[in-house]
Amino acid sequence: MSIRIQPSILSADFVNIERDFATISSADGIHVDVMDGHFVPNMTFGSGVVKRMQEITSLPLDVHLMIENPDHWAVKYAELGVFSVTVHYEACKDAVAISKAVRATGSRVGVSIKPNTPVAVLEDLVTHFDQVLIMSVEPGFGGQSFIQGSIDKISDTRRLISVLGLDTWLQVDGGIDLATIGAAAAAGADTFVAGSSVFGSPDRQGMITQLRETAQAASHN
Ligand code: DX5
Ligand code: ZN
Repeated sequence: MSIRIQPSILSADFVNIERDFATISSADGIHVDVMDGHFVPNMTFGSGVVKRMQEITSLPLDVHLMIENPDHWAVKYAELGVFSVTVHYEACKDAVAISKAVRATGSRVGVSIKPNTPVAVLEDLVTHFDQVLIMSVEPGFGGQSFIQGSIDKISDTRRLISVLGLDTWLQVDGGIDLATIGAAAAAGADTFVAGSSVFGSPDRQGMITQLRETAQAASHN
């Protein structure tokens, strides 16, 4: 199984973002947290800033929309040419319509569930998405502890993807570090968001390598 490490720029220096991008150039992508102060109790930035990020890096941008009304906004981010756009199941009116609109732009599309949302809601949706994101903390802030109950949700989602014969990426976000990534990989995650563990490290490229190697060693394939 391919392992992907995506540093979350929520823990980066927004005012010196180009400099911080250079410090994570060995990553498989950059996880971009968009928050609106409504869906989550925190705010970051909007599509204008993401547009500039897209212009200054060749790394794939993985946009995580923690916003209300993704039915309106998701396609606007996809039209910037970002690699992927992930919406929250809890905020969507018509997740399948969002999937179609995002895919029509050429971007990949993901669906995310919060810690208290059961995996069962994905059963009829997963075929429409390129990526499932299991939140392993309550969305809104970096630096929180990994919720252990997320491991069973990752296993259940991996089983669902396998039973349906899909190649959907299985992403986990929140509290991922060298102590937690192995269990998440063993449960079937293949795409790992890591904010504070990467940006808080004195050797960010080295941390990315260590996270990737730890996940690879714990992964079944
Ligand atoms: C939280 C965000 C995460 C966050 C993860 O709502 O979605 O991407 O940056 O941060 P860490 O890795 O520090 O838990
Ligand atoms: Zn995120």
